[in-house]
Amino acid sequence: MPIPKAELHLHIEGTLEPELAFELAARNGVRLPYADTEELRKAYLFDDLQSFLDLYYSLMAVLRTEDDFEALAEAYLARAAAQGVRHAEIFFDPQAHTARGVSIGTVVEGLGRALDRSRERHGISTRLILCFLRDQSAESALATLDAARPYLHRIVGIGLDSAEVGHPPAKFREVYAVASALGLRKVAHAGEEGPPSYITEALDVLGVERIDHGLRALEDPELVARLVRDRVPLTLCPLSNVRLRAVDVLEAHPLGRMMDAGLMCTVNSDDPAYFGGYVDDTFLAVRAALGLSESRLRELARNSFLAAFLDDEEGLRERYLAEVEAYEFGTG
Ligand code: HPA
Ligand code: ZN
Repeated sequence: MPIPKAELHLHIEGTLEPELAFELAARNGVRLPYADTEELRKAYLFDDLQSFLDLYYSLMAVLRTEDDFEALAEAYLARAAAQGVRHAEIFFDPQAHTARGVSIGTVVEGLGRALDRSRERHGISTRLILCFLRDQSAESALATLDAARPYLHRIVGIGLDSAEVGHPPAKFREVYAVASALGLRKVAHAGEEGPPSYITEALDVLGVERIDHGLRALEDPELVARLVRDRVPLTLCPLSNVRLRAVDVLEAHPLGRMMDAGLMCTVNSDDPAYFGGYVDDTFLAVRAALGLSESRLRELARNSFLAAFLDDEEGLRERYLAEVEAYEFGTG
């Protein structure tokens, strides 16, 4: 049995497995430029973030209806349950869909159908986080937040993703301020490929509560001291970092050093259909590659619930934390 955990950095579009992509393509009459799933899988060799994003956005062409988004979320939740996930905070990229003529209502209502029955069916509580594409304009982000207004009861917060370098957090100062006034929680990708100064800027200018990735934090000792002091959670994604070549090999990943430095780390899967594993696969991989102790693995699981946006649900965080403390590691 995998250790109970929350997944806090998961792009629902990044859970689109080749089999489901072909099924939805057939259903919607969309032609994919790959003969079959095997040929598609062969395209999953990335040089960097952008080379992944190109494929990630192009495959989204198969997602058209509420049924499609429901099927996508349902497939993820079933896999997540088997990986010990008890709570999932799920990113979605509305601009990647509205640009193709799919409305934000179709996306949110479709995902919502699967999320609404998730606790009952999979034992997983859920949240939705709306992400802005940082390589699009600030005006487009504002228009997206505006279009999301009828669905805000389903959305806990906002995030910032897509191509990082050249698109610093401050570009989105205004939309984060508007979201804050609406009572939304705030996170942002920072320090994945971009410099540690983007992490500082996300904290100072956007007022984010968690940093997604934060991989490059160790390059700035002053920033590390601040992140440790303020217990700012980092949602690291080690398998993603290897596949997108932010680190050479998993053995060289800074996760262990970051935990030793006192940073509040969590481990997540990012885009598991593309990066070779879901979240417990990631726990097992870092355990093997970095030699993490059981106490470090328990710390990662504990941190995931401590960093979750669970405040409004009476007792849930405490219940999950008790499950983490009671967990017994097996031998296999
Ligand atoms: N980084 C930035 N944008 C993304 C990612 C990522 O890892 N996955 C999906 N969109
Ligand atoms: Zn991500």
